[in-house]
Amino acid sequence: METHNLTVKQFSYCFFLSIFAIFSFQAHFSEAETHYHDFVIQARPVKRLCRTHSTITVNGLFPGPILQVRDGDSLVIKAINNARYNITLHWHGIRQLRNPWADGPDRITQCPIQPGRSYTYRFTIQNQEGTLWWHAHSRWLRATVYGALIIRPKLGSPYPFPMPRSEIPILLGEWWDRNPLDVERISDFTGAAPNVSDAYTINGQPGDLYRCSKQETERFPVDAGATILLRIINSALNQELFFAVANHRMTVVAVDASYTKPFTTPFIMIAPGQTTDVLITADQTPGRYYMAAHAYNSANAPFDNTTTTAILEYKSAPCNAKNGKSSTPIFPQLPGFNDTNSAIAFTSSLRSPSKVKVPLQIDHNLFFTVGLGLINCTNPNSPRCQGPNGTRFTASINNVSFVQPRRNSLMQAYYQGQPGIFTTDFPPVPPIQFDYTGNVPRGLWQPVKATKVYKLKFGAKVQIVFQDTSIVTIENHPMHLHGYHFAVIGSGFGNFNPRTDPAKFNLIDPPFRNTIGNPPGGWVAIRFEADNPGMWLLHCHLDSHLNWGLAMAFLVENGVGKLQSVQPPPLDLPRC
Ligand code: C2O
Repeated sequence: METHNLTVKQFSYCFFLSIFAIFSFQAHFSEAETHYHDFVIQARPVKRLCRTHSTITVNGLFPGPILQVRDGDSLVIKAINNARYNITLHWHGIRQLRNPWADGPDRITQCPIQPGRSYTYRFTIQNQEGTLWWHAHSRWLRATVYGALIIRPKLGSPYPFPMPRSEIPILLGEWWDRNPLDVERISDFTGAAPNVSDAYTINGQPGDLYRCSKQETERFPVDAGATILLRIINSALNQELFFAVANHRMTVVAVDASYTKPFTTPFIMIAPGQTTDVLITADQTPGRYYMAAHAYNSANAPFDNTTTTAILEYKSAPCNAKNGKSSTPIFPQLPGFNDTNSAIAFTSSLRSPSKVKVPLQIDHNLFFTVGLGLINCTNPNSPRCQGPNGTRFTASINNVSFVQPRRNSLMQAYYQGQPGIFTTDFPPVPPIQFDYTGNVPRGLWQPVKATKVYKLKFGAKVQIVFQDTSIVTIENHPMHLHGYHFAVIGSGFGNFNPRTDPAKFNLIDPPFRNTIGNPPGGWVAIRFEADNPGMWLLHCHLDSHLNWGLAMAFLVENGVGKLQSVQPPPLDLPRC
């Protein structure tokens, strides 16, 4: 018996050892995975606010599919265009090292995928963790074509904060009670500002405060006592938002897929393009609590002043509280629509968790004025001049209003050496100095239209100060740089003062972001090292401003050798 027992034990010991060996062998090789997806772009009936619209979706879903990967994984996404519009897809915040071909902005790194055609986006996540998202990057298609892109740490690596019990993606969006492409087309034609949206949404649902919406309001069941990670994404087209959860303070742990020094706050301000990860703990009386978002409106302009809601629902809440009409969830306090002080106080509280590497010697000291403008019309009564006093709206950086090339994408033209698509003389400073945030003379309201890029050598160290102007209106412009994340080293109201303001820069623990807005009537400063060759769009993430030309591109040249050079383009890259 004894012997027998021993052999069994020995056998099982060996068995477990070998199982363990196989397991760790597999774990080693499965560390980085490749995820294959088909994204079929197609119109689908979607009913919101009592009306059904033929809505452009991915795989019939609105919002689109959630991508969940780990750092180091690769994605292979075949975009099949079964819709009637040209389209491209962008993986917002993914660095796409040496791989601009997978970045997606229309006519910048690719030509659009035509109806009936397809293109496969192939890319690898390299040293990025957190919440990002993907969206269409042609015309206003991203109004409905968007989804979350969640990057978890490598297998076996923890979060730098206590493991949450569950995670909830919160996609904030904007809904028009008509085809958003018609809204865009009409404003392109008339020159007037596009109609504001009819609703904001949380995960595609407007919530309890809108007509015909209550049945579908998003509900998030939670266990009492549990800590939950909210991955909040502003996928709205044109509006910065305040967001809060009734009775629950939030601890911010990351923005734009970069960890932050945790701090607690009763609300957040989030601009289109940005993401914010927060922890909340379900430590309140079991019940139902509203999450809500409404506009932070920094401009002197019309805006959608409605409020979207979802419900945080304790599983242990009494049944009548869950189903009964009697119990209305508690409503959170949101800052007022034009509470700039709260918005800026929140954004400037962000810090990296510890000391970070920021370029200290600067090769390119860029000063970019950002703002709107007006184009004068020869015939102010023309149907095409419906902007203020018979003008057309426009926007610019350093007085250049960006024009999308027609015949080719910038990156393809550069790679093939095709002349005549763009010039490399984008101005590093505004052509004329003026009191940017003061009373600007009318003669400076009309920018020039051009397709200009700014050239950078590989490894160049860059500082950009984005200076808002008061032309037409002061406003928060969420500036997004493709292919990079950057350190946000300072901001302030009024005109940037190059003699006194740099002394206040935070070069120790600034946050890293891919999208940052200037305070309205103020400035914000960023730094980055140009270590990613390619053509990279920089633009205001308010789509109405992008349409008007609030954009430019950096052409980052190859460095030395393969590891500092752009990869060859994929064979299926769409042609114009
Ligand atoms: Cu999220 Cu150029 O875009």
